[in-house]
Amino acid sequence: MLSKIEKLIADTEHFTAKTAEEVEQFRIKLLGKKGDITVLFDDFKSVATEEKRIIGQRLNELKQKAQEKIKALKDVLGDQNQQLHQLDLSLPGESTSLGARHPLSIVRREILEIFTRLGFTVYEGPEVEDDWHVFSALNFPADHPARDMQDTFFIEKNPDIVLRTHTSSVQVRVMNKQKPPIRGVMPGRVFRNEAISARAHCIFHQVEGLYVDENVSFADLKQTLLYFAKEMFGADVEIRLRPSFFPFTEPSAEMDISCTICGGKGCNICKHSGWVEILGCGMVDPNVLENCKIDSNKYTGFAFGMGIERITMLKYRINDLRLFFENDVRFLNQFA
Ligand code: PHE
Repeated sequence: MLSKIEKLIADTEHFTAKTAEEVEQFRIKLLGKKGDITVLFDDFKSVATEEKRIIGQRLNELKQKAQEKIKALKDVLGDQNQQLHQLDLSLPGESTSLGARHPLSIVRREILEIFTRLGFTVYEGPEVEDDWHVFSALNFPADHPARDMQDTFFIEKNPDIVLRTHTSSVQVRVMNKQKPPIRGVMPGRVFRNEAISARAHCIFHQVEGLYVDENVSFADLKQTLLYFAKEMFGADVEIRLRPSFFPFTEPSAEMDISCTICGGKGCNICKHSGWVEILGCGMVDPNVLENCKIDSNKYTGFAFGMGIERITMLKYRINDLRLFFENDVRFLNQFA
């Protein structure tokens, strides 16, 4: 019995705790109703008289040391029982503040949702690409100005590797891998070497779309984009297609929507024309299909591409592109 007491004294002296809970467990183990010390005191009653003095003394010392230790630790860590009793369960909880989704994420999601409802699949691809996927396969002539250092970020050590300037590179990847019918939307970050201003940035986001199958026509393109515009901006919105040029589509067009700010009457945003441009589109050039080993006699396709920033600015009436990248919480908190 004496050796047990000595061991408990040593344990008590060495005991440390990091939390009030550990102290309380220690107290229960030693001094609780079935605790080691309590049990020892019970056993003490049957100790032979001649041993009583020495064992009794050590046992009392053990109890005292344990009580002192517990008190000292409670002074530092707090008393768990008391803490529990001080808890006012009727107090309102502490609310955790949730972050808001970035406006570009909200709009990207919305765009993708509209097109996935039409049966388009979402595809992603690399931001660092080779010249072939970004330009050559897309029918850019070797001396086309878009390859020029002014627009494209090249990797210095290997000018064949670029930061993609549009997500059309993902269309090439999909066409290379898959046989028609192909119906896809390609969201992603793109890079152009442009001076940063309220209307331009060297990084922005696009969603491009591609539909290749037998008998795909310009009418399909127009109807798809009209549906998109109405879902995105409301049933009243009108669209207008203007002839344009892209190396990878023929014919090509740019699409305007009736100004969502003034409803077409004319304002600063639409430069008093009543229309704002939101995307480029066209019928996939047969050369592009052939570059991707798709039979251009059998298949036709349409493609389109839009900047997410542009759509977001129109939807939320934001007048400076730089706000999207500055991460000012006063701006970001306005979007749920
Ligand atoms: N890739 C074009 C751009 O970045 C957009 C576009 C895509 C135009 C598909 C026509 C067809 O501006």
